[in-house]
Amino acid sequence: MLMLSKTAGAIPRPPRSNVRGFIRRFNVQPRALFHHKLVLGIETSCDDTAAAVVDETGNVLGEALHSQTEVHLKTGGIVPPVAQQLHRENIQRIVEEALSASGVSPSDLSAIATTIKPGLALSLGVGLSFSVQLVNQFKKPFIPIHHMEAHALTIRLTHKVGFPFLVLLISGGHCLLALVQSVSDFLLLGKSLDIAPGDMLDKVARRLSLIKHPECSTMSGGKAIEHLAKEGNRFHFTINPPMQNAKNCDFSFTGLQHVTDKLITHKEKEEGIEKGQILSSAADIAAAVQHATACHLAKRTHRAILFCQQKNLLSPANAVLVVSGGVASNLYIRRALEIVANATQCTLLCPPPRLCTDNGIMIAWNGIERLRAGLGILHDVEDIRYEPKAGEIVSWLRVLTALTEDLDSVSSTHTVAHSPLNSGSRGANIQTSMCSCTQTVYMRTVRHTLNILNEKSKKKKKKKKKK
Ligand code: KG4
Ligand code: ZN
Repeated sequence: MLMLSKTAGAIPRPPRSNVRGFIRRFNVQPRALFHHKLVLGIETSCDDTAAAVVDETGNVLGEALHSQTEVHLKTGGIVPPVAQQLHRENIQRIVEEALSASGVSPSDLSAIATTIKPGLALSLGVGLSFSVQLVNQFKKPFIPIHHMEAHALTIRLTHKVGFPFLVLLISGGHCLLALVQSVSDFLLLGKSLDIAPGDMLDKVARRLSLIKHPECSTMSGGKAIEHLAKEGNRFHFTINPPMQNAKNCDFSFTGLQHVTDKLITHKEKEEGIEKGQILSSAADIAAAVQHATACHLAKRTHRAILFCQQKNLLSPANAVLVVSGGVASNLYIRRALEIVANATQCTLLCPPPRLCTDNGIMIAWNGIERLRAGLGILHDVEDIRYEPKAGEIVSWLRVLTALTEDLDSVSSTHTVAHSPLNSGSRGANIQTSMCSCTQTVYMRTVRHTLNILNEKSKKKKKKKKKK
């Protein structure tokens, strides 16, 4: 049974004509008999209306997506009632398109899976209410989905990845590092203390007025920053990554946003232009802020990997770091994380960019994962509620409180100081800009840090034995 929370939202009752309309307009002819389990996934937690049908083996049979990005770019951010209206206008068409493309009729489905948390209340409500109609109409089991769990498990659709693995989830609303131990068991190692990296990049892009840039006008803020940064020289500006000495795996992005904001104001004065016009140095600023973001994400993740290795939480022979969420589609950030993964003998895996941003496939796949594990499958949706608050995430993730002290003791000062992320020359490609001697030093310092950690834990074990 789904836990109800104080912040849970009631489902707005849909007009009955919606239900009849769906049945009347839906006319898929089943192409074949389906032997596999089939799940329809529905996603409306933020500003994408998405649906997909996925089978047990990970075949995507049909998918459809309506993005609201362009509308929200014009209003300078997501206005929840506008998002709700757009979800309402599109959900039926999107679900019909996904089902039609798949050749699966609703009666063939094994279950319907829908994002119910976390997200914007008004957006979540549309997806849930539509799903409840379908569930009741076609008498199907319902699988409520946690949006971040879906981002984390997407990798198991595209790659063979067993549990446990380390996941870095970076999106417009979230930033967290967790050890994924099973479909529903996540140990939280770190999180953003303020805003998410995608939110910060969106704000910087807005402040740079990138919507007026002919090449970026239809791109999300983060994508626009990545695009522009390719032409920029990050060395024209110094933006230091935050929390350089913090002995944990948390993140912070508000400081980066403010520093960049100040820099933009300063350059506007210098170039004698009004707020709202595009700076001649916009590409350089984009490159500098992207680099600082990549360094910050990589260094905090590096600490988490060292910690997991020290505690034997990851398989020594096959340690996997998964990066997902909208910001993970940024190739510069991926390269920064690749450096850290290589230096710590981890395999970095990322879903393809279109599966990093919100989509229906990840929700349907999460439904398949839960169906296979027999977890959270509801046959009665009478009491189902959506849960918008991100705070809910704590009840989903087991926080590693008992090990926090150990986490604090992981020393990465050496590796941070010598990291290739602090070196290199111009522009977009971290790896090509890294000189091989710096890389050697980096590898050596990582090994050095690991040795220290191993020595420390050996000593501790010896002490325990003596006692
Ligand atoms: O996962 P997602 O689609 O939605 C949320 O759950 O938040 O992530 C959207 C976020 C936005 O903030 C967007 O600017 C960012 O992902 N994003 C990017 C890129 N593409 C999307 N950030 C950096 N580089 C990109 N290429
Ligand atoms: Zn997302």
